[in-house]
Amino acid sequence: MIKFPNLLGAGAALAAASIVMTGLAVNNARSQTMKDCCDDTAINYSKDLWSAMESAGLAGKGAKDDKPYKGQAPHGAVLETIHSEVTVGSYFFGLLGGYKGKVVVKRNYGGDGVSIDAVSKDRKKFLKAVTVMFKREAGYDKDNGDWFWVKYKADGSLHTNPKGMMLAGRVMKGADKGCISCHSLVKDKDYLFGKLN
Ligand code: HEC
Repeated sequence: MIKFPNLLGAGAALAAASIVMTGLAVNNARSQTMKDCCDDTAINYSKDLWSAMESAGLAGKGAKDDKPYKGQAPHGAVLETIHSEVTVGSYFFGLLGGYKGKVVVKRNYGGDGVSIDAVSKDRKKFLKAVTVMFKREAGYDKDNGDWFWVKYKADGSLHTNPKGMMLAGRVMKGADKGCISCHSLVKDKDYLFGKLN
């Protein structure tokens, strides 16, 4: 028969173990958050994604025009939003390898004199940012729909936030501002607002 003190001992051991485990889990979650956003892996991936979008005519010099509409903060005063699919990281003329996923490209237009008309006439002049959501492989970020978030400049280099953080990857996951936090308002629509105008 198990004596009462033994049970107590076992209980204490279990409690201690669970405290240690919780500690580990918290630590783990914290280090995840640190590297979630914007490390070299994410930055390199954003380059591959840009190339894939260029090849598909979604970004860069050969980007095909879409239909500009009136936008709002924090995105541009005028926007174009395109839903498509691209294959990222393929090689041998795009024939081999790579990962194919859904992509949502938002071109953000702004600056003095911006209007739908002005943008239609000269997109290059007003293009301030290309914000992108790319659906990665399952498990990339299961808490947030496996989306990869990027904010590019018009030339495909990365925008930084006020802290100098390159905006690519699980951008500001767990923070109370930034891509993931704001888009979580529409979590039930797979983080997609849809056009608001
Ligand atoms: C404060 C809120 C907010 C933040 C922060 C934010 N967005 Fe958005 N985002 C929106 C809204 C609102 C729309 C819909 C705009 C429209 O088309 O009228 C949108 C639309 C988009 C779309 C088009 C798909 C959709 O949801 O309809 C993409 C892609 C996108 N955002 C990417 C990003 C990226 C990348 C970041 C971070 C660098 C970011 N967003 C930060 C509010 C936000």
